[in-house]
Amino acid sequence: MILGIESTAHTFGVGMFSNKVISNEWDMYRPKTGGIHPREAANHHVEVAKEVVKKAMLKKPKAIAYSCGPGIGPCLKVGTIISRYLSNKYQIPLVPVNHGVAHMEVGLWSTKAKDPVCVYASGGNTQIIARDKTWKIYGETLDIALGNALDKLARDLGIAHPGGPSIEKLAKKGEFIDMPYTVKGMDLSYSGIMTHARRLLKTHKPEDVARGFQEHAFAMLVEVTERALAHTEKGEVLLVGGVAKNKRLIEMYKIMCEERGAKFFVVPDELAGDNGAMIAYNGKISLKKGFSIKPEDADYFQNLRVDTDLEKLFRL
Ligand code: ATP
Ligand code: FE2
Repeated sequence: MILGIESTAHTFGVGMFSNKVISNEWDMYRPKTGGIHPREAANHHVEVAKEVVKKAMLKKPKAIAYSCGPGIGPCLKVGTIISRYLSNKYQIPLVPVNHGVAHMEVGLWSTKAKDPVCVYASGGNTQIIARDKTWKIYGETLDIALGNALDKLARDLGIAHPGGPSIEKLAKKGEFIDMPYTVKGMDLSYSGIMTHARRLLKTHKPEDVARGFQEHAFAMLVEVTERALAHTEKGEVLLVGGVAKNKRLIEMYKIMCEERGAKFFVVPDELAGDNGAMIAYNGKISLKKGFSIKPEDADYFQNLRVDTDLEKLFRL
């Protein structure tokens, strides 16, 4: 029975995992205007922490797992301090978890995918990853993440963060329009198409811009994924991260995978966005391998990548 704490960005989440998800509670910071303000988000986490922990902690945990990065400094700090406190209070091990790896591991656990090419698409990340001996990044965005581009486009339409779900709804009513398409080998770029789409809002209907943006941006991601399948000779695709909730993206992946004879898996909605249960689950994996730290060694890292070796990092 592990308690997991997630606080890397907009969401303060707490969940428990034993051999299944026991609880998964969260409270999301929603900025009144603009994107995420780091200090405001951190203040939000401090305000809701006690209540969310109380709701999720159904039993006394055997260990505390927490997201130690990547993420927004002040937000990570809140989760780290609370986790250290709980580990001290209950005299139980503390387990740092890589947030990006957590998205993928919970995807593997919940879908039973065995050895997929993972697509990690969220507000802060867009990466094509597969497991060799360790997680390896095969391709990624060269600038902004897909979720971030959707959020910024939505903001221009006066839609509050997170914008992805609203753009998805709008796009259903829209007509297809042409936009730039930027794939560079195994990498892709979203800043050009986003700027283009924001400009088109002055002359075109929002629903058409939403549709055109989704079709192009998603096709870019699917193309790179297909190339990764060919390179790695793997036969499965697993879609994870907040953007994995998008039904049109899922549909495009299904078509590509069917045409290639690959299996397609997608993390369920309730485990797709940032949440504490996925952190608890990853804490369990690490504990099994014998990795935990002392509360006084608790730390966080804003710029972790999925291929960072956490055990090494905490030994340094
Ligand atoms: P990370 O630190 O892993 O980058 P994150 O902080 O972005 O995570 P997530 O909850 O994993 O958090 O992802 C949030 C993103 O998912 C936001 O950009 C949001 O707009 C996007 N999103 C959520 N639902 C949808 C949807 N239905 N369609 C498209 N995008 C969506
Ligand atoms: Fe995330």
